Amino acid sequence: MKELHFGVFEVFGPQVGGTHSWPHPLSDSINFADPDHWVTIAKILEEGGFDFLFFADGYGYPMIGDDISRTAVERGVNFSGYDPAMIIPVLAQHTKRLGFVVTSSTGLDHPVQLARRFSTLDQLTGGRIGWNIVTGASQNAVAKVLGHDTMLAHDTRYEMAAEYVRLAVQYWEQAWDDGALVADRESGVYADVSGIHRVDFGGEHYRSAGYFTAPPTPQRTPVLFQAGTSPKGRAFAAAHAECVFVQGTVPKHTASNVADIRRRAAAEGRDPAGIKLMAGLTAFVAESEQAAQQLEAEFDALQSDEIVAALYAGNTGIDLLSLNPDETLHQVLGNGGPVGQMGTSNIERFLGKDGADAPRVREILDQLRGRGTRGFRVSGTGEQVADQIEALAAETDLDGFLIEPVFDPRDLRVFSQEVMPVLRHRGRLSENAEPVSLRQQLLGRRGSRLGGDHHLVGDAAEVVSKTATAVS
Ligand SMILES: Cc1cc2nc3c(=O)[nH]c(=O)nc-3n(C[C@H](O)[C@H](O)[C@H](O)COP(=O)(O)O)c2cc1C
Repeated sequence: MKELHFGVFEVFGPQVGGTHSWPHPLSDSINFADPDHWVTIAKILEEGGFDFLFFADGYGYPMIGDDISRTAVERGVNFSGYDPAMIIPVLAQHTKRLGFVVTSSTGLDHPVQLARRFSTLDQLTGGRIGWNIVTGASQNAVAKVLGHDTMLAHDTRYEMAAEYVRLAVQYWEQAWDDGALVADRESGVYADVSGIHRVDFGGEHYRSAGYFTAPPTPQRTPVLFQAGTSPKGRAFAAAHAECVFVQGTVPKHTASNVADIRRRAAAEGRDPAGIKLMAGLTAFVAESEQAAQQLEAEFDALQSDEIVAALYAGNTGIDLLSLNPDETLHQVLGNGGPVGQMGTSNIERFLGKDGADAPRVREILDQLRGRGTRGFRVSGTGEQVADQIEALAAETDLDGFLIEPVFDPRDLRVFSQEVMPVLRHRGRLSENAEPVSLRQQLLGRRGSRLGGDHHLVGDAAEVVSKTATAVS
């Protein structure tokens, strides 16, 4: 029986998932700016046996036309928050085994800046950090904020991302030999020059020549996550990612995306079962089925078409409320502008896959109500929710789920107390007696390092053998 992994999807802001729930009396997430809010959550997750806490992030926000969406601001839908990387060292101090995954979009800074940031996080967490690689949501807003004349095309962003990751991994894996950090008081030698290597990288989008000032850390390369499920995104995941956060709401579609990523990974010479695929899951858990349904109803009552539209525009560039409700998205595509060049997964899913008719705008609004960017939805007692999770895993071949709280941290506390023990009893959790690195926890590897079987390590090793002669 397959072990399942559990993360929690959060944002360092008022609410996750592009839905509206922070004003509800059961939610505390409006206190997101208080570090104690996160310490409480981290402790709940550690005690509950979760694998990691995951933070989404970005510089964007939903735009309608040329300006910020009014609903996004008024309701706090994917609008406002702080840099999640900064809270991680605080949480690491209060936990021993919980992993942390931070989203950082490629294309914002130079890869060496990201490499240094994540080396620092890996060191400060004792090897419990992962990097969620995205090419970035809300690219129309990001382009404006960063002062770019034009928004980069969707597929170009993925090409750049491949280079970005390759360069970062060279810094992590190649720049320092094991043992090059000497730190010997007696001789006064800090580092062995022969073990420090120059990175020479001349790519199409990024260049770099020099040494890495951050010494090696427990994992060196953070666990490589990826999110973005377009065909380009899946190809990128199959080549580079160790764990993938897959968009999933319909089990059949998710199963086909999961199979596609595993097939592509195998074609890249990787073990298709070795890449861990996870999807979002909103769980309404209560002491009875009726009580869980009541929670669901209270959450649904807080949602509106305006909230759906704000979220969707931020994701795709499409303002659903400005469209004829009887149109399908086929009629919107090809109109130019950012549409089709921002996130595409949330357009493709409404184009009528597998022979089904494409839904009309009115139906899309209804389908997305209360869903936002959330994945699957389950509801019931702890036992019932555990059953539904196992059924979903069997149907999709997913390796785990990211729990997307609605009433935070209440939902996480209840999930930890009511669902995790059932899954543990059924032998579904992967728990180690001693704390291990995030890579060991998720991938069951013996060591903490990105394996030699990962092509990026092979590429980096090849470069080091070339540069070593240049240095000596
Ligand atoms: C489940 C999931 C979570 C994501 N989280 C983020 C995020 O936190 N920040 C971000 O900028 N992009 C995030 N994205 C990815 C962007 O949508 C993506 O990088 C880009 O827009 C293209 O995605 P595509 O391959 O789905 O077209 C996420 C995507 C998915 C499917």
